[in-house]
Amino acid sequence: MTETVLLVGGGGREHAIARAVADDCALYACASVRNPGIRRLADGFETVSETDADAVVEYAIEVNADLAVIGPESALEAGVADALDSAGVYAFGPRAEEARLETDKAYQRRFMAEASIPGCPDFEVFDDMEAACEHVDAYDGDLAVKPAGLTGGKGVKVIGDQVTAEEAKDYLRDSDYDRVVLEERLVGEEFTVQAFVANGDLRTTPAVQDHKRAYEGDEGPNTGGMGSYSDPALALPFMTEGDYGDAVEILEAVVDALPDYKGVLYGQFMLTAEGPKIVEFNARFGDPEAMNALPVLQTPFLDVLTAARDGDPLPELDFSGEATVCKYAVPDGYPVDPDSGARIAVDEESAGDALLYYASVDEREDGLYTTTSRSFAVVGRGDSIAAAETRAEDALSAAGDGLRIRHDVGKADLVERRIEHMDDLRD
Ligand code: AMP
Ligand code: GLY
Repeated sequence: MTETVLLVGGGGREHAIARAVADDCALYACASVRNPGIRRLADGFETVSETDADAVVEYAIEVNADLAVIGPESALEAGVADALDSAGVYAFGPRAEEARLETDKAYQRRFMAEASIPGCPDFEVFDDMEAACEHVDAYDGDLAVKPAGLTGGKGVKVIGDQVTAEEAKDYLRDSDYDRVVLEERLVGEEFTVQAFVANGDLRTTPAVQDHKRAYEGDEGPNTGGMGSYSDPALALPFMTEGDYGDAVEILEAVVDALPDYKGVLYGQFMLTAEGPKIVEFNARFGDPEAMNALPVLQTPFLDVLTAARDGDPLPELDFSGEATVCKYAVPDGYPVDPDSGARIAVDEESAGDALLYYASVDEREDGLYTTTSRSFAVVGRGDSIAAAETRAEDALSAAGDGLRIRHDVGKADLVERRIEHMDDLRD
């Protein structure tokens, strides 16, 4: 029997999900933006707000969906998984209650403390911004200031890295946040591990390193993510196998404490001198990290989804053993003052050996143009990070003008600097 799958969301991450299942099912998709890559792969596409649970359910019923995959956190927070489950359409994505692991950072830290999940930094939660400022003054060491709610990865300010203590206090006083978490600044190298979770089972994918800063050399403002790489091995070159295993144990502890969790569990780790600590959990695939994990997954993703729905153990995962390098092309000026309207010259065919994933593009009669958000990503695969990086750059050579790219992502000297950084910290 052919399964009918509904995909919720229209970014690069969802284009990667679409490509991972399209050949094995009847695929329908709904999102607020019309992603040309997803529309080409899907049998039907409906323009619907991802946070409008009733509209998503209506479309799921109209297309007779057997199950749904939810891409963005905004949909999880809006209870789209709850609504689909109630309508009898299995949603691979946590219900709003479990998604609080991502959508409420105060809940996330308290949950970690109460369930004794390893890797939790020192933290305190404040509802009063003046009291938070006093804590900044009194705390011995640097703090990370984190609004409790969703900010698209752009609300966190790290003292001693992005801001001074005085700037952090101004930020708190000028904000209209109801609640903030102040936590110990973690120092090290960041990495992501994404796991498929259902029925108390967990299957992990290779570690990925994302690059949140807008400019090369990790300068500039935070973004949703500018690019990312993974190694042929499960761990990254600056990690040991033991570090990867410690990260998996942390994710397992979460699943033990939340046995009803289903969907993707994404751990954002800081590899410190003492081992991996949790920067945050997300309740969905990362964007860009989905574009690293799914192209090397050889086990059909649909098999994971149907096992999850049917209450079966999740299949063991096979990977191709290739490295991946993903680079986003964003409009000039992104994220502070992005210029839209630049022509995108590359397409899925001219990308050659690399994979092209659309994020936010404006489709006009004569072609695709940039909007004010990230435009598209390319992913190179190869038997080393260097080989994958070359493939990604080859595809980008025809990207067009008016776009900015972090060419340093996946380059040998950047990877080498990560290794040296960890060696220094561990000495
Ligand atoms: P988040 O929105 O929690 O992913 O945070 C965005 C970015 O802020 C992370 O990717 C880290 O680079 C940084 N960050 C968050 N929490 C901490 C922390 N406790 N110590 C150092 N950096 C942090
Ligand atoms: N790449 C970071 C995120 O998806 O949250």
